[in-house]
Amino acid sequence: MNVEEAKTRIAHLSKTLKEHNHKYYVLSQPSISDYEFDLLLKELEALEKEFPNLVQTDSPTQQVGGDITKNFTQVKHRYPMLSLGNTYSEEELKEFDERVRKGIGNYFTYVCELKFDGLAISITYENGKMLRAVTRGDGVQGDDVTANVKTIQSIPKELKGHYPPLFDIRGEIFMHKKTFERLNNELRNDLLNQGVDEDKIPERLYKNPRNFASGSLKMQDSKEVAKRALDAFLYFVYTDNELTETHAESLKLAESWGFQVSDHFKVCQNIEEVMSFIKGYENSRHELSYEIDGVVIKVNEYRHQQDLGFTAKIPRWAIAYKYKAETAVTKLREVTYQVGRTGAITPVANLVPVQLAGTTVKRASLYNADEIERLNLFDHDTVFVEKGGEIIPKITGVDESKRDLFAQKIQYIQLCPECQTPLVRKEGEVVHYCPNDLHCPPQLIGKMEHFISRRAMNIEGLGSETIAGLFHKGLIHSYADLYDLRYEQLNGLEFELEEDAEGKRKKRSIKEKGALNMINGIEASKQIPFERVLFALGIRMVGETVAKKLAQKFETMEQLMLVRTEDIAGVYEIGEKIAENVTRFFADEENRKIIERLKQHGLQMAIQIDPNEVKSTKLEGKSFLVSGTFSMSRDELKKLIENNGGRNVGSISKSLDYLIVGDKMGPEKLKKATDLNIPMVDENTFLEMIKG
Ligand code: IVH
Repeated sequence: MNVEEAKTRIAHLSKTLKEHNHKYYVLSQPSISDYEFDLLLKELEALEKEFPNLVQTDSPTQQVGGDITKNFTQVKHRYPMLSLGNTYSEEELKEFDERVRKGIGNYFTYVCELKFDGLAISITYENGKMLRAVTRGDGVQGDDVTANVKTIQSIPKELKGHYPPLFDIRGEIFMHKKTFERLNNELRNDLLNQGVDEDKIPERLYKNPRNFASGSLKMQDSKEVAKRALDAFLYFVYTDNELTETHAESLKLAESWGFQVSDHFKVCQNIEEVMSFIKGYENSRHELSYEIDGVVIKVNEYRHQQDLGFTAKIPRWAIAYKYKAETAVTKLREVTYQVGRTGAITPVANLVPVQLAGTTVKRASLYNADEIERLNLFDHDTVFVEKGGEIIPKITGVDESKRDLFAQKIQYIQLCPECQTPLVRKEGEVVHYCPNDLHCPPQLIGKMEHFISRRAMNIEGLGSETIAGLFHKGLIHSYADLYDLRYEQLNGLEFELEEDAEGKRKKRSIKEKGALNMINGIEASKQIPFERVLFALGIRMVGETVAKKLAQKFETMEQLMLVRTEDIAGVYEIGEKIAENVTRFFADEENRKIIERLKQHGLQMAIQIDPNEVKSTKLEGKSFLVSGTFSMSRDELKKLIENNGGRNVGSISKSLDYLIVGDKMGPEKLKKATDLNIPMVDENTFLEMIKG
């Protein structure tokens, strides 16, 4: 490679790596695996070594991570927070060992620890009390996330035993795999309830526990962080005066002060013992309740650590051995197609079962037609399956040399497997849809599930499983049918559940009490306000906020069913697309019949005017941002703004009309508002504005 070529490649690699760093640290949404990232970084390192003149000071090889976000106060680390060198190979690990022995001789020990896959934190304790917790940031300074870290149960706010008056402790914050699954499921349901399209959901969910943990720690509201049930292992104590001679002893000491230190560490006499520690966890790591991505190997004796010292970026006395994402080889049995609740089609590869990362894999998602094309997949192909950070395994490649001579290329289906309607693929979208939203079974079930959900009609006693069961029994076809159900029909009813991930079907039966709960829940839903009824109808793109706006503007179902697309599109922040969906929904004869039946059953079809609510147009056309604390709750204040025709917005921009300033407003906001010359009013001035 000549200098010019190297220059171009270095610029390209730097740019790519910076983008990936941003996705990983700031957005918590990485798009490539650690392994792929490390390969790019190593390529850049090698090129910079070959062409030292081309090294830029801001090259990703010169920097540590970078998780600084705008919303937190920056704090300088008392001791720089360095990263570790890493390797994926035994050979490189042996080279590390040789370098160490060259530096300090043969009389030393190693400590092997698990490399927890979370995010690094540095916590300062003063006189036994947590003073401050800071993220790694760029290694020199990071985000002050003390309030959030205080919500983590396993990190002590106050210490016990004999601790030094001032010290820093470093560790990793993470989320347990089970918690991750639970919270991601909840997030999925919330998004569905907010009217987000099913095929847009995967990109809104967290890809793995690490991203969920890091996204959580960067939240502004500590009460929310507390719900995320984060956990932490601490693994390094920094003091000005040495407390112990070895790292292993310091871990024990930290444990005696009340810190959670992992039991999975070992003092090793030589690199062979280190290697067998690594091999031991290669498989058994999947049995841990949290994810690890490797093993960290540290020289145990502090005096040796000091002799070895640091390079510009990493210690010479430690290294991380990282496990590669596991791959298995198996055969494709067939491709089947799932129809989602919104009609989105997902192709699924059904595989000859194979062991991978501690579980038996039988299926892998193929995402869409483009992915099948990309893989160039044929019938009964031999495929490579990988389980990276993500939970659903994916096919990473095909072994074409093993392909059967007469094998046929996989042809994407043209008809919906559930209702035989020709599929459609919208311009610019990768996903195929079944357009038969009125009759396609999974879509009907989806609509009913949405209808009964918590944020919509909130029908207690009735869940998704029962809805699907009642549908398959022929008892309900639309949500209006729910209101015709009778206790005698439900009591004692037996039905089969839908196939689970393993392809098994379980049975359920409704008992007396369950039947009664359902009937009562259905009856109670008749009191649910109009705006939520509107949301519950499941009109495409009509989430809670849009439903609320429509209800406020048109006031009754009757009126809304009469107005034209332009009238709807004219409502503030409701665009053409949403408006078209609304009119199309109401133009459909069957939908009109269903709504008529809901009306007959006594559901709320008009907004209820609260006589105590002052309504005016005093703030018409003006936008407000509420920040800080007030004598009333922020929600009450926002309600006042809405009731007087104003609009609440979420962030400061040039177009903001007023910032309502309360106590304890963040300095950043204040500065931004001042810079942009935004008028600021306090609570009393605001109340004057809407008075009389
Ligand atoms: S020691 C100077 N020990 O991995 C030594 N790090 O790739 C600093 N990590 O920045 C780190 N488990 O975020 C250490 N048992 C462990 C670890 C660990 C996970 C993380 C940490 C570090 C990164 C390095």
